[in-house]
Amino acid sequence: MQEAQGRHDPAVAAFLGALEAAVTAYAADGSEERRAAVRVFDRCRRLTGAASTATALPQPVCAILPDALAVARDGRRPALRRGVAAAFAALAPRLQWRPRASATDPAFRDAHANAMLLGPGGIEAREDVQIGATLMAPNTLYPNHSHPPEEVYLALTPGEWWNARMDWTDPGPDGLIYNPPGIIHAMRSGRSAFLAIWLLPV
Ligand SMILES: [Fe+2]
Repeated sequence: MQEAQGRHDPAVAAFLGALEAAVTAYAADGSEERRAAVRVFDRCRRLTGAASTATALPQPVCAILPDALAVARDGRRPALRRGVAAAFAALAPRLQWRPRASATDPAFRDAHANAMLLGPGGIEAREDVQIGATLMAPNTLYPNHSHPPEEVYLALTPGEWWNARMDWTDPGPDGLIYNPPGIIHAMRSGRSAFLAIWLLPV
């Protein structure tokens, strides 16, 4: 095993710790989502990416981030998810939020944004994993898309996911969403602001 090269930024390390605790608690032994998540967290243990010097890049939808964090940190939400939300909130002032490059519809463009925490352009820049967040206004559909790496989603607020082998699904308080490599998938918010974390072993 390679030696870790440097230490994660303390706030990044706290976020990774909270995220791994939550994801491994919700991913059944032997499941595809557990295998994918283990790949991501093992890589994060072995290597540390370069610290970003970029400054925060807000988008119109960031106006609802406090609402999303309030929902995510509501005391009725599961403690492990609230732990991820708290660690995420500590990193939020450093995030570079961006709409999807292909988002041409102005209403959708202003109603969502993605931010990379660990990965290309992230707070910790690296090429072997992507751990990021999607923020959406209420009643927003994030349209069909696909990408070669498999993907695990941890919902921090209510929301629904769809993929080509799964009907629209709310993962609920104990669930995760898993998208196999290359599958077409989508997600949508309901009545509340939407915040979810995604993990991809690249
Ligand atoms: Fe995706």
